[in-house]
Amino acid sequence: MRVAIFASGAGSNAERLIEHAKHENALYTVVLVLSNKAEAGVADVARKHQVEFVSIVHDTNEAEVEKRMLQYLDEHQVELICLAGYLRKIPDAVIARYPARILNIHPSLLPKFGGKGMYGKRVFEAVLNVAEKETGVTVHLVDSVYDSGAILKQERIPIEVGESIQSLEQKTHKIEHKMYPEVVDFWIDELQSGAPNPKRCS
Ligand code: GRF
Repeated sequence: MRVAIFASGAGSNAERLIEHAKHENALYTVVLVLSNKAEAGVADVARKHQVEFVSIVHDTNEAEVEKRMLQYLDEHQVELICLAGYLRKIPDAVIARYPARILNIHPSLLPKFGGKGMYGKRVFEAVLNVAEKETGVTVHLVDSVYDSGAILKQERIPIEVGESIQSLEQKTHKIEHKMYPEVVDFWIDELQSGAPNPKRCS
């Protein structure tokens, strides 16, 4: 399946997805990396792996963003989109065009610590502020409400005494890097079965 990755940051998850796709038994190829920031670290990741990179600045009008995004997706015949730290809302027309075909990875056990403005270090800070005993990672489908689509898989991380934002971030990334490519393969298999069921993944 032809996959586009949308990312705004360093791109460590994007890189893992690209590397996994090179294995001969992977079920997808990464054909496009799209960012809202031309200078994001993920641009270097795309360059390093020779995957086409494009950027769309979201402060132009929304209709224009939507039009360009659909144009890039069409040009590359994208069949599935993986969000990997993409910090802008996906236009409704793109969500409508890709039903059950947009995945996101989030660094908490959704629905806890999700929603607008909850990303990156803010999530770990919030988790530590309320003295949770565990946190984790969620991979879910994307619909028009932030962090609310069907959950495909969650993995738990126990919070230890003396845990910091940095230590939590490190543990989270380690789990994400293994989990995301596996869930993407799983979901593609489900889609290809003709009767995809999010519950089967966990
Ligand atoms: C990840 O922690 C992911 O859960 C979140 O954004 C972060 C992206 O990190 N959605 P990276 O750019 O992949 O390193």
